[in-house]
Amino acid sequence: MQPSQAYRAAESLLAFWAEAGVDAMLLDEAVDRIEAGKIAPPPSPVAARPVPAPVAGPRVAAAPSPDLSAAIAEAQQLAQAADSIEALKAAIEAFEGCPLRFEGAASQAVFYRGDPAAPLMIVGDGPGSEEDAQGAPFVGRAGQLLDRMLAAAGLTGRVFITNTVFWRPPGDRAPSPPEQAVCAPFLERAMELLSPKMLLVLGASSAKALLRKDEGILSLRGRWHEWRSHSGNLELPVMPTLHPAFLLRQPAAKKKVWSDLLTATERLDRPERP
Ligand code: URA
Repeated sequence: MQPSQAYRAAESLLAFWAEAGVDAMLLDEAVDRIEAGKIAPPPSPVAARPVPAPVAGPRVAAAPSPDLSAAIAEAQQLAQAADSIEALKAAIEAFEGCPLRFEGAASQAVFYRGDPAAPLMIVGDGPGSEEDAQGAPFVGRAGQLLDRMLAAAGLTGRVFITNTVFWRPPGDRAPSPPEQAVCAPFLERAMELLSPKMLLVLGASSAKALLRKDEGILSLRGRWHEWRSHSGNLELPVMPTLHPAFLLRQPAAKKKVWSDLLTATERLDRPERP
């Protein structure tokens, strides 16, 4: 195998595990940590400082820092004041409280593309370089694949597409829970204003943020979940599925997404009970 092929294979395998929710590496051989601890050097004055206890429970539940609390409060105020999707777009563009705006984004806020009256709202992680340049979500390679799959499922023109954050994360990493928390009031307001019939959530980090669950995407996908607004006024069915960027690296997983898309389309087209 050429070194470049080996590199791509390793990258693809790591991406597969990351998408499946594996975020810790284990060694082939077990390590006796108690035994290992016995030969630890005596604590230095710095190490002797009390270390805060690890926070139990899913990381999505962590409280925002005071700075972010102020940014979240401002986002809530701006979002609630917006009475149309265009007013919400203008509020996002004016908002300076998301750190990503000054870190990853080279140009502009990326809010949505598609039809605001569409019955299906699709939520991805965050914009990449192409989205940052064009100011619209899912317009790069992953977006083109998404469009092809939507067309095959008969969903072209029936979607509103957005993300959990509205500025590009540096290096196209996944957005962090605090970054998603700062943008969440705008996303939630979009759902309130548009009241779609359901959500299709793409990828692990957006599924975790919206469902407030710490499960991997492979166990979340393919089943219906419920999203509820913080105000409790709006509830929507959610179908999580794999991210199209992941499918570019793991084409064999397309059949899972195809099955999830068909499940969503079937529910979308089901006649409503009177
Ligand atoms: N990936 C996402 O999650 N969103 C985009 O808009 C583009 C790529």
